Amino acid sequence: MADFTIRPAGPADGAFLADMVVEAANWRVGATRPRPSVLADARHGAYVAGWQRPADRGVVALDGDARPVGAAWYRLFGADRPSLGFVAAGVPELIIGVRPLWRAQGVGRALLRALADRARVEGFARLALSVEHGNFAHELYRSEGFSVVASTADRDTMVRVLR
Ligand SMILES: CC(C)(COP(=O)(O)OP(=O)(O)OC[C@H]1O[C@@H](n2cnc3c(N)ncnc32)[C@H](O)[C@@H]1OP(=O)(O)O)[C@@H](O)C(=O)NCCC(=O)NCCS
Repeated sequence: MADFTIRPAGPADGAFLADMVVEAANWRVGATRPRPSVLADARHGAYVAGWQRPADRGVVALDGDARPVGAAWYRLFGADRPSLGFVAAGVPELIIGVRPLWRAQGVGRALLRALADRARVEGFARLALSVEHGNFAHELYRSEGFSVVASTADRDTMVRVLR
Protein backbone atom coordinates (compact mmCIF):
# COMPACT_ATOMS: atom_id res chain seq x y z
CA MET A 1 0.00 0.00 0.00
CA ALA A 2 1.31 3.44 -0.94
CA ASP A 3 2.04 6.03 1.73
CA PHE A 4 -0.86 8.45 1.80
CA THR A 5 -3.22 10.04 4.29
CA ILE A 6 -6.80 11.28 3.99
CA ARG A 7 -8.28 14.50 5.32
CA PRO A 8 -11.66 16.23 4.89
CA ALA A 9 -11.99 18.52 1.88
CA GLY A 10 -12.30 22.25 2.58
CA PRO A 11 -13.21 25.41 0.69
CA ALA A 12 -9.62 25.86 -0.53
CA ASP A 13 -9.69 22.50 -2.37
CA GLY A 14 -11.87 23.73 -5.23
CA ALA A 15 -9.07 23.95 -7.80
CA PHE A 16 -7.80 20.46 -7.00
CA LEU A 17 -11.30 19.02 -7.15
CA ALA A 18 -11.68 20.66 -10.56
CA ASP A 19 -8.47 18.87 -11.61
CA MET A 20 -10.09 15.60 -10.54
CA VAL A 21 -13.25 16.38 -12.55
CA VAL A 22 -10.96 16.75 -15.57
CA GLU A 23 -9.31 13.39 -14.75
CA ALA A 24 -12.72 11.73 -14.47
CA ALA A 25 -13.90 13.20 -17.78
CA ASN A 26 -10.66 12.01 -19.44
CA TRP A 27 -10.71 8.50 -17.96
CA ARG A 28 -10.24 6.79 -21.33
CA VAL A 29 -6.64 5.99 -22.26
CA GLY A 30 -5.42 8.75 -24.56
CA ALA A 31 -8.27 11.17 -23.77
CA THR A 32 -6.96 14.73 -23.51
CA ARG A 33 -10.01 16.99 -23.38
CA PRO A 34 -8.66 20.33 -22.14
CA ARG A 35 -9.52 21.55 -18.65
CA PRO A 36 -11.46 24.68 -19.75
CA SER A 37 -13.61 22.63 -22.11
CA VAL A 38 -14.43 20.01 -19.46
CA LEU A 39 -15.28 22.56 -16.78
CA ALA A 40 -17.37 24.70 -19.14
CA ASP A 41 -19.47 21.62 -19.92
CA ALA A 42 -22.26 21.71 -17.32
CA ARG A 43 -22.43 17.91 -17.23
CA HIS A 44 -18.95 17.94 -15.66
CA GLY A 45 -18.52 21.44 -14.26
CA ALA A 46 -21.65 21.14 -12.13
CA TYR A 47 -19.83 18.78 -9.77
CA VAL A 48 -17.44 21.48 -8.63
CA ALA A 49 -18.93 24.89 -9.56
CA GLY A 50 -19.16 27.11 -6.48
CA TRP A 51 -17.31 24.64 -4.24
CA GLN A 52 -17.82 24.44 -1.28
CA ARG A 53 -21.60 24.74 -0.84
CA PRO A 54 -23.09 24.09 2.59
CA ALA A 55 -24.01 20.41 2.00
CA ASP A 56 -20.90 19.54 -0.05
CA ARG A 57 -18.60 17.03 1.63
CA GLY A 58 -15.41 15.44 0.44
CA VAL A 59 -12.14 13.78 1.31
CA VAL A 60 -8.68 14.44 -0.11
CA ALA A 61 -5.76 11.99 -0.23
CA LEU A 62 -2.32 13.49 0.45
CA ASP A 63 1.16 12.22 -0.32
CA GLY A 64 4.00 12.29 2.20
CA ASP A 65 4.60 15.97 1.46
CA ALA A 66 0.92 16.83 2.05
CA ARG A 67 0.29 17.35 -1.67
CA PRO A 68 -3.16 16.26 -2.88
CA VAL A 69 -3.12 13.13 -5.03
CA GLY A 70 -6.81 12.23 -5.17
CA ALA A 71 -10.24 13.24 -3.97
CA ALA A 72 -13.79 11.97 -3.65
CA TRP A 73 -16.70 14.19 -2.81
CA TYR A 74 -20.45 14.43 -3.03
CA ARG A 75 -22.95 17.10 -3.84
CA LEU A 76 -26.75 17.26 -3.80
CA PHE A 77 -28.57 18.02 -7.02
CA GLY A 78 -32.20 19.01 -7.41
CA ALA A 79 -34.75 17.44 -9.72
CA ASP A 80 -34.83 20.78 -11.57
CA ARG A 81 -31.12 20.45 -12.44
CA PRO A 82 -30.46 16.74 -12.68
CA SER A 83 -26.88 15.57 -12.95
CA LEU A 84 -25.48 12.56 -14.80
CA GLY A 85 -26.15 10.22 -11.88
CA PHE A 86 -29.25 11.89 -10.47
CA VAL A 87 -31.47 9.46 -8.56
CA ALA A 88 -33.63 11.59 -6.29
CA ALA A 89 -33.47 14.81 -4.32
CA GLY A 90 -31.73 13.97 -1.05
CA VAL A 91 -29.44 11.35 -2.58
CA PRO A 92 -25.99 12.92 -2.95
CA GLU A 93 -23.90 12.08 -5.99
CA LEU A 94 -20.23 11.31 -5.69
CA ILE A 95 -17.33 11.90 -8.03
CA ILE A 96 -13.79 10.62 -7.64
CA GLY A 97 -10.42 11.09 -9.25
CA VAL A 98 -6.84 10.08 -8.48
CA ARG A 99 -3.75 11.55 -10.14
CA PRO A 100 -2.40 9.11 -12.76
CA LEU A 101 0.87 8.36 -10.96
CA TRP A 102 -1.07 7.39 -7.84
CA ARG A 103 -3.59 5.03 -9.39
CA ALA A 104 -3.90 1.31 -8.61
CA GLN A 105 -2.31 1.77 -5.17
CA GLY A 106 -5.41 1.71 -3.02
CA VAL A 107 -6.10 5.45 -2.92
CA GLY A 108 -9.43 5.29 -4.75
CA ARG A 109 -10.86 2.54 -2.57
CA ALA A 110 -9.72 4.31 0.61
CA LEU A 111 -11.34 7.56 -0.58
CA LEU A 112 -14.62 5.79 -1.38
CA ARG A 113 -14.72 4.24 2.08
CA ALA A 114 -13.90 7.50 3.83
CA LEU A 115 -16.58 9.34 1.86
CA ALA A 116 -19.21 6.68 2.60
CA ASP A 117 -18.37 7.01 6.30
CA ARG A 118 -18.81 10.74 6.04
CA ALA A 119 -22.16 10.47 4.24
CA ARG A 120 -23.38 8.05 6.91
CA VAL A 121 -22.40 10.48 9.66
CA GLU A 122 -24.29 13.23 7.83
CA GLY A 123 -27.38 11.02 7.89
CA PHE A 124 -27.65 10.05 4.24
CA ALA A 125 -29.15 6.66 3.42
CA ARG A 126 -27.76 6.35 -0.11
CA LEU A 127 -24.96 7.55 -2.34
CA ALA A 128 -25.27 7.67 -6.14
CA LEU A 129 -22.82 7.99 -9.02
CA SER A 130 -22.56 7.80 -12.79
CA VAL A 131 -19.96 5.72 -14.62
CA GLU A 132 -19.39 5.23 -18.32
CA HIS A 133 -19.45 1.75 -19.80
CA GLY A 134 -15.95 0.33 -20.05
CA ASN A 135 -14.49 2.22 -17.09
CA PHE A 136 -12.92 -0.32 -14.69
CA ALA A 137 -14.09 1.95 -11.87
CA HIS A 138 -17.41 0.14 -12.35
CA GLU A 139 -15.89 -2.96 -10.73
CA LEU A 140 -14.39 -0.90 -7.94
CA TYR A 141 -17.80 0.60 -7.20
CA ARG A 142 -19.49 -2.79 -7.32
CA SER A 143 -16.94 -4.21 -4.89
CA GLU A 144 -17.68 -1.29 -2.54
CA GLY A 145 -21.40 -2.09 -2.49
CA PHE A 146 -22.79 -0.03 -5.39
CA SER A 147 -25.41 -1.58 -7.68
CA VAL A 148 -26.64 -0.47 -11.09
CA VAL A 149 -30.09 1.14 -10.86
CA ALA A 150 -30.35 2.67 -14.34
CA SER A 151 -28.50 2.49 -17.65
CA THR A 152 -28.29 4.47 -20.87
CA ALA A 153 -26.44 3.61 -24.07
CA ASP A 154 -23.16 4.88 -22.65
CA ARG A 155 -23.36 4.96 -18.84
CA ASP A 156 -24.73 3.39 -15.69
CA THR A 157 -26.17 5.01 -12.60
CA MET A 158 -25.11 3.14 -9.46
CA VAL A 159 -26.35 3.47 -5.90
CA ARG A 160 -24.98 2.28 -2.59
CA VAL A 161 -27.23 1.85 0.42
CA LEU A 162 -25.37 3.10 3.50
CA ARG A 163 -25.91 0.96 6.57
C1 LIG B 1 -11.13 5.21 -10.82
C2 LIG B 1 -10.06 5.70 -9.86
C3 LIG B 1 -10.62 6.83 -9.00
C4 LIG B 1 -9.69 4.52 -8.94
O1 LIG B 1 -8.69 4.95 -8.04
P1 LIG B 1 -7.40 4.05 -7.78
O2 LIG B 1 -6.63 4.70 -6.70
O3 LIG B 1 -6.72 3.82 -9.08
O4 LIG B 1 -8.10 2.70 -7.28
P2 LIG B 1 -7.49 1.61 -6.30
O5 LIG B 1 -6.01 1.59 -6.38
O6 LIG B 1 -8.11 1.81 -4.96
O7 LIG B 1 -8.00 0.30 -6.99
C5 LIG B 1 -9.30 -0.18 -6.82
C6 LIG B 1 -9.42 -1.49 -7.54
O8 LIG B 1 -9.38 -1.29 -8.94
C7 LIG B 1 -8.32 -2.08 -9.51
N1 LIG B 1 -7.67 -1.29 -10.53
C8 LIG B 1 -6.93 -0.19 -10.34
N2 LIG B 1 -6.51 0.28 -11.53
C9 LIG B 1 -7.00 -0.56 -12.48
C10 LIG B 1 -6.94 -0.59 -13.90
N3 LIG B 1 -6.26 0.34 -14.61
N4 LIG B 1 -7.60 -1.57 -14.55
C11 LIG B 1 -8.28 -2.50 -13.88
N5 LIG B 1 -8.38 -2.52 -12.51
C12 LIG B 1 -7.74 -1.56 -11.84
C13 LIG B 1 -7.38 -2.38 -8.39
O9 LIG B 1 -6.73 -3.60 -8.69
C14 LIG B 1 -8.27 -2.43 -7.20
O10 LIG B 1 -8.82 -3.68 -7.02
P3 LIG B 1 -8.29 -4.60 -5.82
O11 LIG B 1 -8.45 -3.79 -4.56
O12 LIG B 1 -9.17 -5.79 -5.89
O13 LIG B 1 -6.85 -4.87 -6.14
C15 LIG B 1 -8.78 6.19 -10.58
O14 LIG B 1 -8.23 5.14 -11.31
C16 LIG B 1 -9.02 7.37 -11.51
O15 LIG B 1 -8.90 8.52 -11.10
N6 LIG B 1 -9.35 7.11 -12.77
C17 LIG B 1 -9.63 8.19 -13.73
C18 LIG B 1 -10.84 8.97 -13.35
C19 LIG B 1 -12.09 8.13 -13.25
O16 LIG B 1 -12.29 7.19 -14.02
N7 LIG B 1 -12.94 8.49 -12.28
C20 LIG B 1 -14.20 7.81 -12.09
C21 LIG B 1 -15.22 8.33 -13.02
S1 LIG B 1 -16.78 7.49 -12.77
